[in-house]
Amino acid sequence: MIPDFWQQRWQENNIGFHLEQVNPVLQKVLSNVLSKQSQEYSRCLVPLCGKSHDLVYLAKHFKHVVGIELSEIAILDFFKEQSLDYSISDEDNYKIYTSNNIKLYQGDFFEISKELKQDYDLIYDRAALVAMPKELRQAYVDTFKNFYLNNNTQILLIALSYNQSEMQGPPFSVAFDEINMLYGDKFSITIISKTDVLAQAPRFKEMGLNKLEETTYIIQLN
Ligand SMILES: C[S@@+](CC[C@H](N)C(=O)[O-])C[C@H]1O[C@@H](n2cnc3c(N)ncnc32)[C@H](O)[C@@H]1O
Repeated sequence: MIPDFWQQRWQENNIGFHLEQVNPVLQKVLSNVLSKQSQEYSRCLVPLCGKSHDLVYLAKHFKHVVGIELSEIAILDFFKEQSLDYSISDEDNYKIYTSNNIKLYQGDFFEISKELKQDYDLIYDRAALVAMPKELRQAYVDTFKNFYLNNNTQILLIALSYNQSEMQGPPFSVAFDEINMLYGDKFSITIISKTDVLAQAPRFKEMGLNKLEETTYIIQLN
């Protein structure tokens, strides 16, 4: 999606994707994810993080939580709403907002900075892959493969699937077959839950959807 689209969504406060609580799926599955980690939990990356409450929840379980977000409005709202003080620094193409063990990189996900290039133990993708238009999804996934993964990294992906002809997106429909195409070359993909969430998403029902599935995956190197 072109950056202007998202900047405008934030300017207009058109952020129906934002949850006013920690994502219940994350709360349910995080202990399962953590139990599979051999090393001490350390670094978690949240691409396209918005102003999600999940950042604070993850910061209780990881030594470092790093978010990447285009919109300065989202980042400033996040610190204000969470009542967190922060400092600001600059690095390559990013402005970095730091508060305790949370660092938010404001800028484009595809502009990789030196400091960002590290292994993460967990990549938490909620409403991020499905926010990418089809033509950017391979580049998005390749960014993880090239810069952010070690042999033990787990990707916790919460994706949506629906009949794409019923609604334009974003969020786009990204079903198992496509996830397998994007990650299946070297990664094992485990489905840990699949739920019909249309009843909880009246705005999508109004837009014409007849079915909306939320699927949670754990993706790991083979
Ligand atoms: C659907 S929202 C999801 C936000 C968050 N993950 C959540 O669960 O609330 C997608 C977010 O990605 C941000 N975004 C879109 N394209 C981006 C890019 N290329 N680089 C960084 N952030 C981007 C948007 O500003 C928006 O906040």
